[in-house]
Amino acid sequence: MENNRSSWGSNIGFLLAAIGSAVGLGNIWGFPYKMGKSGGFTFLIVYLLLAVFVGMIIMVSELAVGRKTKLSPIDAYQKVTKKFAWIGWLATVAPFLIMTFYSVLGGYCLQYIALNLTELSFGIGATGSEAFGAILTNPFGAVVFTALFMILCMVIVQGGVDSGIEKFNKIGMPALFVMLLIIIVRALTLPNAVDGLKFMFVPGYAVSAGYITEAPDLITVLGTAGGQMFFSLSLAMGAILTYGSYLGKEENLVKNSAIIVFADTLIALLAGIAVIPAAVANGLNNGLARGEIALGGPKLLFITLQDVFANMGKIGPLFGVIFYGLVLIAAISSAISLMETISAHWIDKDLQRGETDTRKRIVLIVSLLIMIPAALVAADGLGSSKFYPAALLGIQGGVPDFIADWLDFMDCWSEGIAMPLGAMLMALMIGWEMSPDLVLDEVAHGDPSEGFKKFYKFCVKFVVPIVMAFVLAGQMIGFFSGSPIIWYVISGILLVGFWIFAAVGNKKDAKVE
Ligand code: PFF
Repeated sequence: MENNRSSWGSNIGFLLAAIGSAVGLGNIWGFPYKMGKSGGFTFLIVYLLLAVFVGMIIMVSELAVGRKTKLSPIDAYQKVTKKFAWIGWLATVAPFLIMTFYSVLGGYCLQYIALNLTELSFGIGATGSEAFGAILTNPFGAVVFTALFMILCMVIVQGGVDSGIEKFNKIGMPALFVMLLIIIVRALTLPNAVDGLKFMFVPGYAVSAGYITEAPDLITVLGTAGGQMFFSLSLAMGAILTYGSYLGKEENLVKNSAIIVFADTLIALLAGIAVIPAAVANGLNNGLARGEIALGGPKLLFITLQDVFANMGKIGPLFGVIFYGLVLIAAISSAISLMETISAHWIDKDLQRGETDTRKRIVLIVSLLIMIPAALVAADGLGSSKFYPAALLGIQGGVPDFIADWLDFMDCWSEGIAMPLGAMLMALMIGWEMSPDLVLDEVAHGDPSEGFKKFYKFCVKFVVPIVMAFVLAGQMIGFFSGSPIIWYVISGILLVGFWIFAAVGNKKDAKVE
């Protein structure tokens, strides 16, 4: 089978594809706001420490397991572990769930590009809330644009690993970078833009200037930074493992991981420098109080920033097209990694049976299957419909996030539960069931130093599982209402339970030679 299995055309092609997977909506609407609200520069340091001690460890592990087995997540985990074989399913269902809302958001980007193009041609201005209100309450339009986004992604993934995914990223990533620089220059030359930079970088400024009322405590900051870092680096969702499975033996996994982490963080910071100053400047210049400016999530992208472009005069829609174009590239490059991860299992299965030409058909079926729940998320319009989860359950008022709308519901299961749990289980599996040497032997093709080996073993055995328990608790506190203590206790029980499960009767299960 291996001979017919896809592979990257070059290491740089792999790097751009992996950076493409990492750079997505999370970088643009998640990172800058969370950084500003959670301590500015201090948050950045916490984030980077977590990225090095936890993110890099999981990334190297995923790449190693993928490259060692040359299989997609379900089969790869079945090959390396008996006790945790089911993590592979977690790493296939989670990308499916993410795609159900990521494609809707991609569809919104398409609608905003169309809107700004029309404004450019006909000069009709629309404010952010008018535009978004119209989109959210038009279920048919949302479903159609979601389907369009899905078709774009489908065609790229059908093209194959090197001539579809790699090619797209080789053009898309440099283009995104240039577009981002254009937006940064425009944003920073707006009056009052400096206040946005202060919000992002100066510790405590978010509270003292009145952007938020209260700074989060340290544990919340840890949970926020950890959750953001995992989502942003596409970790514990099978995507990095799948991309690693197409990588050549001679490539250096440690160096590659470091480059991906660096590039993803750099783009997140640059995205922040583009969007936050623009949003803040526009808000302040139009008489909004600082606390009234939406600086994160869908509102930032689709209301605040559309207002920025609408207020820029004739040239505004041109910047709108460039901006939503770059967000679209970021969304596609992430979505195709999710689609590839889901499809790869069935493509591999067919290859094992000697059928080499089934990629196109499998990707089509996967796209159609995603489209069914995605249509529900699209038609729901972030809870504008009558059939959001809480309404179906007959619950009104004070609704916790995970049943507030279908997007949050899907996000809760994937980003909230599957991701931190998957990372925790993977670390316990590598650290305590098998041996970290299995990963280090694979990394050895890039010849890791003794120092890295010690660092890796310590982190995978202790640091990652413990940090992931905190991240899991943090995510649960965010999604569900109720006392935080309960979620710490549940996470702690899961951690201890799985730790014992992994360690008892260990190492006999390791099967990969
Ligand atoms: N990393 C992407 C973002 O920051 O938006 C989202 C993502 C893509 C998560 C692929 C997980 C994944 F497997």
